[in-house]
Amino acid sequence: MTTTPIAHRATAVAARATDLSKVYGQGETQVVALDRVSVDFRQAEFTAIMGPSGSGKSTLMHCVAGLDTFSSGSVRIGDIELGSLKDKQLTQLRRDKIGFIFQAFNLLPTLTAQENITLPMDIAGRRPDKEWVQRVIEMVGLRDRLGHRPAQLSGGQQQRVAVARALASRPEIIFGDEPTGNLDSRSGAEVLGFLRNSVRELGQTVVMVTHDPVAASYADRVIFLADGRIVDEMLSPSADGVLDRMKAFDAKGRTS
Ligand SMILES: Nc1ncnc2c1ncn2[C@@H]1O[C@H](COP(=O)(O)OP(=O)(O)OP(=O)(O)O)[C@@H](O)[C@H]1O
Ligand SMILES: [Mg+2]
Repeated sequence: MTTTPIAHRATAVAARATDLSKVYGQGETQVVALDRVSVDFRQAEFTAIMGPSGSGKSTLMHCVAGLDTFSSGSVRIGDIELGSLKDKQLTQLRRDKIGFIFQAFNLLPTLTAQENITLPMDIAGRRPDKEWVQRVIEMVGLRDRLGHRPAQLSGGQQQRVAVARALASRPEIIFGDEPTGNLDSRSGAEVLGFLRNSVRELGQTVVMVTHDPVAASYADRVIFLADGRIVDEMLSPSADGVLDRMKAFDAKGRTS
């Protein structure tokens, strides 16, 4: 077994948002999707982002991941301020430092599982670390499916390919927007287990948006958003604890 190569990472913070705001539209149709959000995502930590529909979860993730622009505040990935980057540099940073797992798996239908897993590195002209990729493939249990195309794989297997693709290049941080939202509970539990193992065993940093208290319980930390603000945080969450907290928010929402 190889050792976890996290020593090259200079700081303990993988990503940081400071006073981050995002406003859509103008005048009467203006929506404040994020309202001065400050949050750290630390290295080798698994964070879940929860909150009601429309609370700003996806917006937060997209802004921190450099997929969307923000109105004010700042975001850094490692030591790099996203606001200081030109479009081309931002594209490069996303490609080199960030892994994505979306609800729709975004696999290329004409490529095999193996080709999909290494595609981002092939595009970037980077040589995959074969040993590492093997380890990832073993972890997600895809060894005997590598020659299959997405259409020949189950939903859970496709999602595992998406997880392996995100892990393969050893990105600084992986973002998932409801990465298990389309899976049955068993496949979902598997994928969540892989994500947690990647944090524990590989030192990976993972940030995941989810509506599901059980999914959130796999994380080291849950942050709760409401109306574009962080309203609460829980460490070492249990599913029941998360559920209780969500109920408390609902009750507060009804009485205010
Ligand atoms: N392109 C857009 N134009 C205008 N408003 C937007 C746009 N995208 C999002 N919003 C608004 O910003 C707010 C936050 O949206 P966001 O998608 O971040 O919510 P979310 O917490 O991810 O919700 P869900 O759980 O439903 O996915 C919502 O009020 C939404 O209507
Ligand atoms: Mg969303």
